[in-house]
Amino acid sequence: MTEPMGRLRNKEGKWVGSKEKMMKVGVIGVGVMGRNHARILSELKGVDLVGVCDIDTKTADEVASMYGTIPYYYPEELLDRNLDAVHVVVPTFLHHEIAKLAVDRGIHVLIEKPIADTVVRAQDIFRFAAKAGVTLMVGHIERFNPAVRKLKSMIREGNLGRLISVSTLRVAPYPKRIVDTGIIVDLGCHDIDIMSYLANSLVREVFCNASSTIHHLEDTASISLNFENGATGHIETSWLSKIKARKLFATFEQGFVLLDFMDQSLILYDDNSAREIDVVKAEPLREEIIEFLRCVREGDEPHIGGEASIHAVGVALAAVTSSEMHLPLRIHGKGAMDFTPELVQNGKSYN
Ligand SMILES: NC(=O)c1ccc[n+]([C@@H]2O[C@H](COP(=O)([O-])OP(=O)(O)OC[C@H]3O[C@@H](n4cnc5c(N)ncnc54)[C@H](O)[C@@H]3O)[C@@H](O)[C@H]2O)c1
Repeated sequence: MTEPMGRLRNKEGKWVGSKEKMMKVGVIGVGVMGRNHARILSELKGVDLVGVCDIDTKTADEVASMYGTIPYYYPEELLDRNLDAVHVVVPTFLHHEIAKLAVDRGIHVLIEKPIADTVVRAQDIFRFAAKAGVTLMVGHIERFNPAVRKLKSMIREGNLGRLISVSTLRVAPYPKRIVDTGIIVDLGCHDIDIMSYLANSLVREVFCNASSTIHHLEDTASISLNFENGATGHIETSWLSKIKARKLFATFEQGFVLLDFMDQSLILYDDNSAREIDVVKAEPLREEIIEFLRCVREGDEPHIGGEASIHAVGVALAAVTSSEMHLPLRIHGKGAMDFTPELVQNGKSYN
């Protein structure tokens, strides 16, 4: 089924929104990713894209004129336009600061992944958003990839059996603009989150080898993960690649799965046969934004809340430490709010 453009869905999957009041939304940070948010918001019915903000005035002007809205050069100017919701798409180290400005005004926030550059700041974002009673969702876009959704529904149906191991390959040419984080936090957090989502389990051990060739932080990494339920994960990621590739391979008790995030394909191998699974393609960012606005409208808790997004960035940062120390890290804590990694050497733990 083709989804009607610009309509919002309620919990039962019914389309709602066009008869309701327009939702006033803004985007802060309209660089490479933020302009996609602005494009989609400008196309959605029931949404008034009140303005876009970028500290780079040329960028703000250009994106505003592309999507027929008003440019702002300071976040506060846009946030004071009586917004219902804002998308925070500035560089990661600024997520905390800009999210705080929005939450302090009672504005619902969709914040790009990774939620923040440190676990402490990530936890703080969730604390202040919960205190203010605003909806906070983190843009873990791969959760909205139709191929991932299909695989998750196949896992839920139980036909694949237990997930035994999962590997991903996520490589791309170096994006010069990303200077505040290395590849583990920037790209690795996608795979940590997706693996944890598919395994339905938290990471308990991480070991990482990484190197820096062109970036001042790591630009190539090989990360091994052990999940609480016994599943294992392996992530290969690099910004030294000449091509862009994003693939996942998963071994289940009853089959082997090959998933391509980019072409949204899914192949299931079982009993020596290969079967291409039907996936209804869709733009993941559009699906993510529709879900965020639905949560805002209906007061629902987004399923990518604190637990998942803090876990993703926390494990990524633990991987960075592991690579620096050449040691595995054990991760403790019942949930994201008491996330505590500790180094392990010769079976002994060090904090
Ligand atoms: N979900 C995904 O697949 C995905 C893809 C790319 C980027 N991202 C995330 O989106 C965020 C932005 O990444 P990007 O690639 O678009 O970076 P970018 O550098 O292209 O864009 C960031 C924009 O923010 C603006 N900016 C900086 N400080 C600002 C401030 N104080 N107020 C207003 N604007 C400000 C910059 O001028 C720039 O135009 C990052 O957190 C990144 O991890 C997510």
